[in-house]
Amino acid sequence: MKMVFLGPPGAGKGTVAAKAKDYYSIPHISTGDLFRSNIKNKTELGKQVEAILAAGSLVPDSVTIAMVKDRISQPDCEKGFILDGFPRTIAQAEALAEMTELDAVVNFVISNEEVVERLSGRRMCPSTGHIYHVKFNPPKVEGKDDETGEDLIQRDDDKPQAILHRLEVYTAQTEPLIKWYTDRGLIRNVQTSNSMSPDAVFEETKKVLK
Ligand code: AP5
Ligand code: MG
Repeated sequence: MKMVFLGPPGAGKGTVAAKAKDYYSIPHISTGDLFRSNIKNKTELGKQVEAILAAGSLVPDSVTIAMVKDRISQPDCEKGFILDGFPRTIAQAEALAEMTELDAVVNFVISNEEVVERLSGRRMCPSTGHIYHVKFNPPKVEGKDDETGEDLIQRDDDKPQAILHRLEVYTAQTEPLIKWYTDRGLIRNVQTSNSMSPDAVFEETKKVLK
């Protein structure tokens, strides 16, 4: 199954993808995670994109498209993949359509108020990538990763200024993809809210993918 997870910042794309990748036995490819790992490892790409991510702006299409093209041509993607956070512009969607044919685009729907509440309380483990929330999805021990016990961090782009900018960028550049993929018969909407557990959202996702 080849699918895209679409939705505003904080919609829960990464949280659901962590469950879906095991269930469907396909890789979870998050362009945000790929950029953050390059930043952490101080690669040339990482140096190029660090300030862009911290501000919450988009990395240029050419850079992002080349990175995804390389990633989905790897052997582990033959059976399918979950693309999380890509495409984010019409140009990226057009480039992806030339690379491969998708089975579905899952669109996670959430209000802006809930996005702000989610992102300001998000914590993550820098090495395992596990995602938590101080209120909605807390770790077993405060501030520590469940698996490794490492200190959790707050993403640079989860600071208030960057959150607002990311929402504006989403509305201007990514939201138009909902219509683009609806016109191609691929959109599957999943309504989410903070009163729905991540497991409940995953159940809804499985339903719309049946
Ligand atoms: P990226 O990492 O993709 O960030 P994003 O799209 O802004 O999405 P997030 O990762 O913030 O949210 P999410 O939907 O994964 O939610 P999560 O599951 O964590 O991109 C970062 C940056 O990289 C971009 O700004 C850009 O600079 C660059 N970039 C990436 N892709 C690019 C592209 N294609 N083109 C150009 N640039 C690109 O959940 C959020 C919080 O909510 C967590 O705390 C979680 O615990 C909590 N939560 C999850 N589910 C629930 C629930 N059901 N109830 C309550 N809380 C919940
Ligand atoms: Mg994410």
